[in-house]
Amino acid sequence: PVRQLMAADIQARKGGAPLVCLTAYTTPMARLVDAHCDLALVGDSLGMVLHGLPSTIGVTMEMMILHGKAVVRGTSKALVVIDMPFGSYEESPAQAFRNAARLMAETGAGAVKLEGGVQMAETIRFLVGRGIPVMAHVGLTPQAVNTLGGYKVQGRDADAERVMADAKAVAEAGAFSVVLEKVPDGLSRRITEAVAIPTVGIGASAGCDGQVLVLDDMLGLFTDFRPKFVKRFGELGQAADEAIAAYAAEVRARSFPAAEHVFPDVLKAKA
Ligand code: KIV
Ligand code: NA
Repeated sequence: PVRQLMAADIQARKGGAPLVCLTAYTTPMARLVDAHCDLALVGDSLGMVLHGLPSTIGVTMEMMILHGKAVVRGTSKALVVIDMPFGSYEESPAQAFRNAARLMAETGAGAVKLEGGVQMAETIRFLVGRGIPVMAHVGLTPQAVNTLGGYKVQGRDADAERVMADAKAVAEAGAFSVVLEKVPDGLSRRITEAVAIPTVGIGASAGCDGQVLVLDDMLGLFTDFRPKFVKRFGELGQAADEAIAAYAAEVRARSFPAAEHVFPDVLKAKA
């Protein structure tokens, strides 16, 4: 039996075979992800993807804990990383520790992820020093959509040094890995060379130490937005639409349920 991966195992994969990561929010999806991936991320993207929120700003600790528990139940090999929601860690290292400890203790996840670079380095050091593995997330940090002014590529031209400094700061603070989101290809490769921890790209570069996508995006289940970096590996939304349309037509035609789906009033006599 394979033991569940830990943050230290992921960190040790720097420069090795690419780390395969996807989001998961539920037990059945976590089982599918667990069979093929190194890391299952309970992303706060679940606010938009599952709950219809306009951004990740409204995601709560309670939502993350409920989905985190479901994902942990569906995994036995992949490391489960759970996003700290907006407002649960920015105030102080102490606030971050209290909420990170709650996420880990109540769900059984193996690590937390939080957004921010230089600004969050002190908090990352505080958590890691007290037993909480932290995955960092720099470049486009969606919880900061209101100050960034949209979901734009980060680190072009003169802005490149800011994103580089953020990645270096979280690595030096003790993060075990760092997500690079919407960071240009060349800069992502330079960051990957410059930091000692694995970089996990989303809209970044094939040169990163690993890749992550939102599962529902790559399956074609969530189609409200279609970022350039989302490759559709499946068209499950279309398949679901076709199945539901077929069901509706058969119900209206009274062709469902058929004889094999209903219960006879009298059991057949034994032969
Ligand atoms: O919330 C999320 O799904 C994420 C990944 C896209 C990295 O943070
Ligand atoms: Na997230």
